[in-house]
Amino acid sequence: MALAMMDTHSRYGLVSRALHWGMALLFVWQFSSAAARVFFEDTALESFLWGTHGQLGVVLLVLVVLRAVWALANASRRPPSVSVMAKLGHLALYGLMIAVPTIALIRQYGSGRALDVLGINLMPGFEGEEIAWMTDLGGLLHGELGWALLALTVGHVVMAFLHRKLTNHDVLKRMV
Ligand code: HEM
Ligand code: HEM
Repeated sequence: MALAMMDTHSRYGLVSRALHWGMALLFVWQFSSAAARVFFEDTALESFLWGTHGQLGVVLLVLVVLRAVWALANASRRPPSVSVMAKLGHLALYGLMIAVPTIALIRQYGSGRALDVLGINLMPGFEGEEIAWMTDLGGLLHGELGWALLALTVGHVVMAFLHRKLTNHDVLKRMV
Protein backbone atom coordinates (compact mmCIF):
# COMPACT_ATOMS: atom_id res chain seq x y z
CA MET A 1 0.00 0.00 0.00
CA ALA A 2 2.75 2.42 1.00
CA LEU A 3 4.50 1.36 -2.20
CA ALA A 4 1.55 2.20 -4.47
CA MET A 5 1.86 5.78 -3.25
CA MET A 6 5.41 6.05 -4.57
CA ASP A 7 6.52 6.08 -8.21
CA THR A 8 8.23 3.01 -9.70
CA HIS A 9 10.28 2.57 -12.87
CA SER A 10 7.27 1.20 -14.73
CA ARG A 11 4.54 3.51 -13.41
CA TYR A 12 3.81 6.81 -11.66
CA GLY A 13 2.42 6.21 -8.14
CA LEU A 14 -0.93 7.34 -6.73
CA VAL A 15 0.29 10.71 -5.50
CA SER A 16 1.96 11.66 -8.79
CA ARG A 17 -1.09 10.58 -10.80
CA ALA A 18 -3.52 12.43 -8.54
CA LEU A 19 -1.42 15.59 -8.83
CA HIS A 20 -1.04 15.25 -12.62
CA TRP A 21 -4.72 14.69 -13.44
CA GLY A 22 -6.12 16.89 -10.69
CA MET A 23 -3.97 19.79 -11.83
CA ALA A 24 -4.77 19.08 -15.50
CA LEU A 25 -8.48 19.59 -14.68
CA LEU A 26 -7.75 22.78 -12.73
CA PHE A 27 -5.63 24.09 -15.64
CA VAL A 28 -8.56 23.55 -18.02
CA TRP A 29 -10.60 25.80 -15.71
CA GLN A 30 -7.76 28.33 -15.39
CA PHE A 31 -7.31 28.67 -19.15
CA SER A 32 -11.08 28.86 -19.63
CA SER A 33 -11.16 31.87 -17.34
CA ALA A 34 -8.29 33.53 -19.24
CA ALA A 35 -10.03 32.80 -22.56
CA ALA A 36 -13.36 34.12 -21.23
CA ARG A 37 -11.64 37.39 -20.43
CA VAL A 38 -10.50 37.69 -24.06
CA PHE A 39 -13.44 36.26 -26.01
CA PHE A 40 -16.47 36.86 -23.75
CA GLU A 41 -15.73 40.27 -22.30
CA ASP A 42 -18.55 41.76 -20.23
CA THR A 43 -20.71 38.65 -20.29
CA ALA A 44 -22.08 36.56 -17.42
CA LEU A 45 -19.68 33.79 -18.49
CA GLU A 46 -16.73 36.10 -17.99
CA SER A 47 -17.79 37.29 -14.56
CA PHE A 48 -18.43 33.67 -13.52
CA LEU A 49 -15.08 32.30 -14.73
CA TRP A 50 -12.82 35.33 -14.35
CA GLY A 51 -13.88 35.77 -10.72
CA THR A 52 -11.95 32.59 -9.87
CA HIS A 53 -8.76 33.33 -11.85
CA GLY A 54 -6.50 34.80 -9.14
CA GLN A 55 -7.58 32.43 -6.37
CA LEU A 56 -7.28 29.28 -8.48
CA GLY A 57 -3.93 30.56 -9.77
CA VAL A 58 -2.62 30.70 -6.20
CA VAL A 59 -3.99 27.20 -5.46
CA LEU A 60 -2.19 25.91 -8.59
CA LEU A 61 1.06 27.52 -7.44
CA VAL A 62 0.84 25.75 -4.07
CA LEU A 63 0.07 22.44 -5.82
CA VAL A 64 2.96 22.75 -8.28
CA VAL A 65 5.42 23.40 -5.45
CA LEU A 66 4.19 20.25 -3.67
CA ARG A 67 4.38 18.37 -6.98
CA ALA A 68 7.97 19.49 -7.61
CA VAL A 69 9.00 18.38 -4.11
CA TRP A 70 7.29 15.02 -4.69
CA ALA A 71 8.98 14.66 -8.10
CA LEU A 72 12.40 15.29 -6.54
CA ALA A 73 11.71 12.82 -3.72
CA ASN A 74 10.79 10.19 -6.35
CA ALA A 75 13.46 11.14 -8.89
CA SER A 76 15.43 7.91 -8.53
CA ARG A 77 12.43 5.61 -9.05
CA ARG A 78 10.19 7.47 -11.59
CA PRO A 79 9.65 5.99 -15.06
CA PRO A 80 12.68 7.06 -17.12
CA SER A 81 12.21 9.88 -19.68
CA VAL A 82 11.70 8.58 -23.22
CA SER A 83 14.09 11.22 -24.61
CA VAL A 84 16.07 14.32 -23.72
CA MET A 85 13.37 16.37 -25.43
CA ALA A 86 10.68 14.84 -23.21
CA LYS A 87 12.75 15.63 -20.13
CA LEU A 88 13.33 19.23 -21.24
CA GLY A 89 9.65 19.61 -22.13
CA HIS A 90 8.56 18.48 -18.68
CA LEU A 91 11.12 20.80 -17.07
CA ALA A 92 9.79 23.70 -19.14
CA LEU A 93 6.24 22.87 -18.03
CA TYR A 94 7.38 23.03 -14.40
CA GLY A 95 9.26 26.28 -15.03
CA LEU A 96 6.19 27.95 -16.54
CA MET A 97 3.76 26.50 -13.98
CA ILE A 98 5.89 28.22 -11.30
CA ALA A 99 6.80 31.42 -13.16
CA VAL A 100 3.32 32.38 -14.45
CA PRO A 101 1.49 32.62 -11.08
CA THR A 102 4.61 33.93 -9.27
CA ILE A 103 4.87 36.84 -11.70
CA ALA A 104 1.15 37.55 -11.19
CA LEU A 105 1.65 37.63 -7.42
CA ILE A 106 4.60 40.04 -7.74
CA ARG A 107 2.39 42.31 -9.87
CA GLN A 108 -0.46 42.01 -7.39
CA TYR A 109 1.85 43.00 -4.52
CA GLY A 110 3.29 45.94 -6.46
CA SER A 111 -0.18 47.22 -7.33
CA GLY A 112 -0.90 47.85 -3.63
CA ARG A 113 -4.22 46.00 -3.86
CA ALA A 114 -5.16 43.50 -1.17
CA LEU A 115 -5.33 39.78 -2.05
CA ASP A 116 -7.59 37.24 -0.35
CA VAL A 117 -7.48 33.58 -1.32
CA LEU A 118 -10.16 31.22 0.04
CA GLY A 119 -10.88 33.70 2.81
CA ILE A 120 -7.23 34.06 3.83
CA ASN A 121 -5.69 37.50 3.53
CA LEU A 122 -2.38 36.93 1.70
CA MET A 123 -1.61 40.58 0.98
CA PRO A 124 -2.98 43.47 3.04
CA GLY A 125 -2.33 46.00 0.26
CA PHE A 126 -0.90 49.48 0.83
CA GLU A 127 -1.63 53.15 0.22
CA GLY A 128 0.42 55.25 -2.14
CA GLU A 129 2.32 54.76 -5.38
CA GLU A 130 2.46 51.42 -7.20
CA ILE A 131 5.85 49.71 -7.36
CA ALA A 132 6.41 50.16 -11.08
CA TRP A 133 8.90 47.36 -11.79
CA MET A 134 6.54 44.85 -10.18
CA THR A 135 3.46 45.90 -12.15
CA ASP A 136 5.49 46.27 -15.38
CA LEU A 137 6.96 42.79 -15.04
CA GLY A 138 3.49 41.27 -14.75
CA GLY A 139 2.06 43.42 -17.50
CA LEU A 140 4.87 42.34 -19.79
CA LEU A 141 5.06 38.63 -18.99
CA HIS A 142 2.12 37.13 -17.11
CA GLY A 143 -0.37 36.80 -19.96
CA GLU A 144 2.28 36.01 -22.58
CA LEU A 145 3.93 33.26 -20.56
CA GLY A 146 0.46 32.03 -19.59
CA TRP A 147 -0.44 31.49 -23.25
CA ALA A 148 2.99 29.92 -23.84
CA LEU A 149 2.18 27.43 -21.07
CA LEU A 150 -1.08 26.60 -22.83
CA ALA A 151 0.74 26.06 -26.15
CA LEU A 152 3.35 23.84 -24.49
CA THR A 153 0.60 21.85 -22.78
CA VAL A 154 -1.18 21.24 -26.08
CA GLY A 155 2.14 20.02 -27.54
CA HIS A 156 2.61 17.82 -24.48
CA VAL A 157 -0.79 16.14 -24.93
CA VAL A 158 -0.18 15.62 -28.68
CA MET A 159 3.24 14.06 -27.96
CA ALA A 160 1.77 11.73 -25.33
CA PHE A 161 -0.64 10.30 -27.92
CA LEU A 162 1.98 10.28 -30.71
CA HIS A 163 4.37 8.26 -28.56
CA ARG A 164 1.63 5.77 -27.98
CA LYS A 165 0.77 5.49 -31.68
CA LEU A 166 4.17 5.70 -33.36
CA THR A 167 6.63 4.13 -30.94
CA ASN A 168 6.76 1.30 -28.47
CA HIS A 169 6.64 3.75 -25.59
CA ASP A 170 3.09 3.69 -24.32
CA VAL A 171 3.77 6.56 -21.93
CA LEU A 172 0.05 7.03 -21.27
CA LYS A 173 -0.14 3.67 -19.50
CA ARG A 174 2.32 4.76 -16.84
CA MET A 175 0.40 7.93 -15.98
CA VAL A 176 -3.18 6.53 -16.16
C1 HEM B 1 -0.90 28.92 -13.18
C2 HEM B 1 -1.62 29.99 -12.93
C3 HEM B 1 -2.06 31.00 -13.95
C4 HEM B 1 -2.22 30.90 -15.32
C5 HEM B 1 -1.99 29.69 -16.21
C6 HEM B 1 -2.68 32.20 -15.79
C7 HEM B 1 -2.94 32.51 -17.12
C8 HEM B 1 -3.29 33.77 -17.59
C9 HEM B 1 -3.43 34.14 -18.97
C10 HEM B 1 -3.20 33.19 -20.16
C11 HEM B 1 -3.77 35.45 -19.03
C12 HEM B 1 -3.97 36.30 -20.29
C13 HEM B 1 -5.39 36.69 -20.53
C14 HEM B 1 -5.44 37.75 -21.60
O1 HEM B 1 -4.76 37.59 -22.63
O2 HEM B 1 -6.16 38.73 -21.41
C15 HEM B 1 -3.87 35.92 -17.66
C16 HEM B 1 -4.22 37.22 -17.28
C17 HEM B 1 -4.30 37.67 -15.99
N1 HEM B 1 -4.03 36.93 -14.84
FE1 HEM B 1 -3.43 35.01 -14.78
N2 HEM B 1 -2.80 33.04 -14.71
C18 HEM B 1 -2.43 32.35 -13.57
C19 HEM B 1 -2.38 32.85 -12.28
C20 HEM B 1 -2.78 34.13 -11.89
C21 HEM B 1 -2.72 34.65 -10.54
C22 HEM B 1 -2.20 33.89 -9.32
C23 HEM B 1 -3.22 35.93 -10.58
C24 HEM B 1 -3.42 36.96 -9.48
C25 HEM B 1 -2.94 36.92 -8.29
C26 HEM B 1 -3.54 36.23 -11.97
C27 HEM B 1 -4.05 37.43 -12.43
C28 HEM B 1 -4.22 37.76 -13.75
C29 HEM B 1 -4.64 39.09 -14.21
C30 HEM B 1 -4.95 40.30 -13.33
C31 HEM B 1 -4.69 39.02 -15.62
C32 HEM B 1 -5.08 40.15 -16.59
C33 HEM B 1 -3.90 40.99 -16.96
C34 HEM B 1 -2.92 40.27 -17.84
O3 HEM B 1 -3.28 39.86 -18.97
O4 HEM B 1 -1.78 40.06 -17.42
N3 HEM B 1 -3.24 35.10 -12.74
N4 HEM B 1 -3.57 34.87 -16.81
C1 HEM C 1 -5.21 15.42 -21.51
C2 HEM C 1 -4.19 15.99 -20.93
C3 HEM C 1 -2.86 15.32 -20.63
C4 HEM C 1 -2.34 14.12 -21.04
C5 HEM C 1 -2.96 13.07 -21.94
C6 HEM C 1 -1.05 13.99 -20.41
C7 HEM C 1 -0.20 12.90 -20.53
C8 HEM C 1 0.96 12.71 -19.82
C9 HEM C 1 1.74 11.49 -19.80
C10 HEM C 1 1.41 10.23 -20.58
C11 HEM C 1 2.81 11.68 -19.00
C12 HEM C 1 3.93 10.69 -18.71
C13 HEM C 1 5.07 11.02 -19.66
C14 HEM C 1 6.30 10.19 -19.41
O1 HEM C 1 6.29 9.34 -18.52
O2 HEM C 1 7.31 10.42 -20.12
C15 HEM C 1 2.75 13.04 -18.50
C16 HEM C 1 3.67 13.62 -17.66
C17 HEM C 1 3.66 14.96 -17.31
N1 HEM C 1 2.65 15.86 -17.61
FE1 HEM C 1 0.95 15.51 -18.62
N2 HEM C 1 -0.77 15.13 -19.68
C18 HEM C 1 -1.87 15.97 -19.78
C19 HEM C 1 -1.99 17.20 -19.20
C20 HEM C 1 -0.98 17.89 -18.56
C21 HEM C 1 -1.05 19.25 -18.10
C22 HEM C 1 -2.27 20.17 -18.22
C23 HEM C 1 0.16 19.55 -17.55
C24 HEM C 1 0.64 20.84 -16.94
C25 HEM C 1 0.40 22.03 -17.42
C26 HEM C 1 1.00 18.37 -17.63
C27 HEM C 1 2.31 18.26 -17.18
C28 HEM C 1 3.04 17.10 -17.11
C29 HEM C 1 4.35 16.97 -16.47
C30 HEM C 1 5.14 18.11 -15.81
C31 HEM C 1 4.73 15.63 -16.59
C32 HEM C 1 6.01 14.96 -16.03
C33 HEM C 1 5.65 14.09 -14.86
C34 HEM C 1 5.24 14.87 -13.64
O3 HEM C 1 6.10 15.46 -12.97
O4 HEM C 1 4.03 14.91 -13.34
N3 HEM C 1 0.27 17.37 -18.25
N4 HEM C 1 1.60 13.63 -19.01
